[in-house]
Amino acid sequence: MREAAAKLRILRRQPFNFLSRAQSGRGADLARRALDHLHAGRALPSFADLEEIVTNPHAIVAFHDWCQRERRFAIWTIEALDRLAEYLRGRRFRRILEIGSGRGDLAWHLATRGVQIVATDAGPEALRGFTLPEYRAVPVEIWENVSRLDYRAALGAYHPDCVLCAWMPPHDDWTVDLRAQAGLEEFVLFWELRGTTGGQSAFRSQVGWRARDLVDVEEVLIGRTDEGIPSTGLIQYTRATAFSRVES
Ligand SMILES: C[S@@+](CC[C@H](N)C(=O)[O-])C[C@H]1O[C@@H](n2cnc3c(N)ncnc32)[C@H](O)[C@@H]1O
Repeated sequence: MREAAAKLRILRRQPFNFLSRAQSGRGADLARRALDHLHAGRALPSFADLEEIVTNPHAIVAFHDWCQRERRFAIWTIEALDRLAEYLRGRRFRRILEIGSGRGDLAWHLATRGVQIVATDAGPEALRGFTLPEYRAVPVEIWENVSRLDYRAALGAYHPDCVLCAWMPPHDDWTVDLRAQAGLEEFVLFWELRGTTGGQSAFRSQVGWRARDLVDVEEVLIGRTDEGIPSTGLIQYTRATAFSRVES
């Protein structure tokens, strides 16, 4: 509902009264409706649409809660997908694989931008658990482009030259298997600085690999832990880092 976003914009101009349940309830309801509307029918929000919500004190709590309920991790934007697709097309990979893809939206939106990519995930039972206990019974959505495969089986089946992985499960480090994968030239990790994605070892530089942030993509990427206020703007903890194999 565009109307929800417009009402939220008006509320944004009012001081946030933490003593008013009525006001916070209204902000939360409008934020949920605005976020649902922005994603309706597999639409992608623009960076500005999301930034406005995430820097709105009346909406931020509901934004974090919506991410939990909907199992959203990176909140992909039109601009981030355009820039990532351009980057991947330019690198001329032949077999791009996404592992732990969740609902499959990243691969789906890349495919609509001309990037050939296979999305794989362990499946809905696994994805379901990546939320607060009170939301675990809420069904998850996995799109038809996703093949159900453990990431190790996916690597074995597809022999990718490029792998994408967003929000690796906390405490896991799948990059050991990625670095051991013959023929893999590059993997791109979408992660965040506060430690909620993957074991921290996953994001360190490693001998034989060159790490570099895809700054153009990061600039317009929003993650579930990001936050902000109107006067200072958005604080982005979300990263997109490419690890390329260095010729030996
Ligand atoms: C934190 S979620 C991130 C989902 C998705 N990448 C996103 O950003 O929306 C982690 C995902 O990893 C998947 N997963 C967990 N263990 C896996 C495994 N061994 N092999 C493949 N996928 C796995 C889960 O099903 C879940 O979809």
